[in-house]
Amino acid sequence: MAMLTWSIALIVTSAAVARAYNNGLALTPQMGWNTWNHFGCDISEDTIVSAAQAFVSYNLTQYGYEYIIMDDCWQAPARDNSTGAPVADPQKFPNGIKDLADKIHDMGLKFGIYSSAGLYTCGGRFGSLDFEVIDAQTYASWGVDYLKYDNCYNEGRAGTPQISFERFNNMSQALNATGRPILYSMCNWGEDGPWNFAVTIANSWRISGDIMDSFDRFDDRCPCTSVLDCKLPGFHCAMARIIDFAAPIGQKAGPGKWNDLDMLEVGNGGMTFDEYVTHFSMWSILKSPLILGNDVTNMTNETLSIITNEALIAVNQDPNGSPASRQTNTAVDGGSISLWQGSLVNDAFVVAVLNTSPNNQTTTIQMSDVFFDQGSVAGSEPWEFFDLWQKDDAGTWGKSIGTVQGSLEVDIGPHSVKVWRAIPQSSATKRFVEEL
Ligand SMILES: *[C@@H]1O[C@H](CO)[C@@H](O)[C@H](O)[C@H]1NC(C)=O
Ligand SMILES: *[C@@H]1O[C@H](CO)[C@@H](O)[C@H](O)[C@H]1NC(C)=O
Ligand SMILES: *[C@@H]1O[C@H](CO)[C@@H](O)[C@H](O)[C@H]1NC(C)=O
Ligand SMILES: *[C@@H]1O[C@H](CO)[C@@H](O)[C@H](O)[C@H]1NC(C)=O
Ligand SMILES: *[C@@H]1O[C@H](CO)[C@@H](O)[C@H](O)[C@H]1NC(C)=O
Ligand SMILES: *[C@@H]1O[C@H](CO)[C@@H](O)[C@H](O)[C@H]1NC(C)=O
Ligand SMILES: *[C@@H]1O[C@H](CO)[C@@H](O)[C@H](O)[C@H]1NC(C)=O
Repeated sequence: MAMLTWSIALIVTSAAVARAYNNGLALTPQMGWNTWNHFGCDISEDTIVSAAQAFVSYNLTQYGYEYIIMDDCWQAPARDNSTGAPVADPQKFPNGIKDLADKIHDMGLKFGIYSSAGLYTCGGRFGSLDFEVIDAQTYASWGVDYLKYDNCYNEGRAGTPQISFERFNNMSQALNATGRPILYSMCNWGEDGPWNFAVTIANSWRISGDIMDSFDRFDDRCPCTSVLDCKLPGFHCAMARIIDFAAPIGQKAGPGKWNDLDMLEVGNGGMTFDEYVTHFSMWSILKSPLILGNDVTNMTNETLSIITNEALIAVNQDPNGSPASRQTNTAVDGGSISLWQGSLVNDAFVVAVLNTSPNNQTTTIQMSDVFFDQGSVAGSEPWEFFDLWQKDDAGTWGKSIGTVQGSLEVDIGPHSVKVWRAIPQSSATKRFVEEL
């Protein structure tokens, strides 16, 4: 029966991929590291090589982290004025980008680059608008494996899904024409609804303005209350606001096509340990790309323990590729208690409770709410719950808390989350879930 379920999952997966960008990449959300959140424009060959060396020494590849991504400000002041090709800053990258990519590849990692679908990048360097073909070809010749493609200075070529589609599809086609599989990570901040228009042209798309390293700090520079009709995505979006933004659009993501909640801030210092656990948990269950944004050469053990939680990473990388959805959301003092559920392969589910209030809360979750989509049999039969933030006796993340039936009382700290993997205990439930 397990084999049968597995093959059903694979069929579902390949059907979904056939409706994604046809480069065969990101069948599970991409994992890696990006320079921007910690280093901003202050980057060089050394910044990037040092991060790759830290990946190797901390064994981050064993957990699935793979891409080393160089964000904005790698460019020279101008393109090559005879060929129009992009040129790297000769001071920051004295050996050029091809040499850097070779070094990253020699360490068993993949290399990513950044540009903007505009006249300039957000940092004011030359952009790729109207230079898509030569830029894609140059990246491919350098050995680039990943493009983060921003939206600054787009010269007004936005405002309807079709206008945005054409501008971002242009680079999608140019990347495809190079013949090199290059993961295409769109960063248009949710403008014109990429979860509707980009599923066949990109592997992931940012859904909102840039993240801020804060749990829930108010900031008018992130002005939208929802991403669905957002006219000014802005930036300085607090982490908990991005969770709210992501909640209704999980339904649009799947293998090869992901909602990108932005790069992680874990380890950058603006949130507490519990808040970073919440951040990593929610990005994992919502199937966001997991792109580290801290200084990986200088991590505390606490930071390392969060980003190497194999049980959460396994949920993020589950082959089903099904983002968790919010089942209930109840206001409490200064925040809310919400219940999340998502399906995993082999009849398992991820279940989470998030407390965004600044106070301890006790709540009772009803299995009929948890398994609302699966119906009354699933909601009334027993499930074994494994707490993904506790280690079992063998030291592995995911300790059994026993059988849960009917309801579960949960004590939950401020700005905290509980995440469980739920496994059906009765054959009636297994059969019922499989038949759905
Ligand atoms: C380019 O697109 C074609 C058709 O969708 C696909 O078969 C091919 O694998 C793609 N190539 C790359 C390098 O992404
Ligand atoms: C990395 O993995 C190797 C081999 O499995 C092990 O010997 C080493 O202790 C690990 N290093 C860290 C920092 O976990
Ligand atoms: C072209 O670039 C070269 C080398 O950077 C420079 O010496 C030359 O002045 C530039 N020519 C023009 C027309 O800008
Ligand atoms: C991309 O834009 C260029 C102009 O920059 C144009 O020549 C080319 O036809 C466009 N390609 C696609 C696929 O739209
Ligand atoms: C390493 O991080 C600590 C804070 O966690 C900071 O005080 C120190 O300056 C950092 N060291 C380097 C070399 O960046
Ligand atoms: C971090 O963990 C390592 C290995 O578990 C240990 O040797 C080291 O002392 C710890 N560092 C700190 C600052 O606690
Ligand atoms: C939450 O409960 C814990 C453990 O009982 C306690 O240490 C902590 O101070 C409480 N936090 C708040 C904000 O009340």
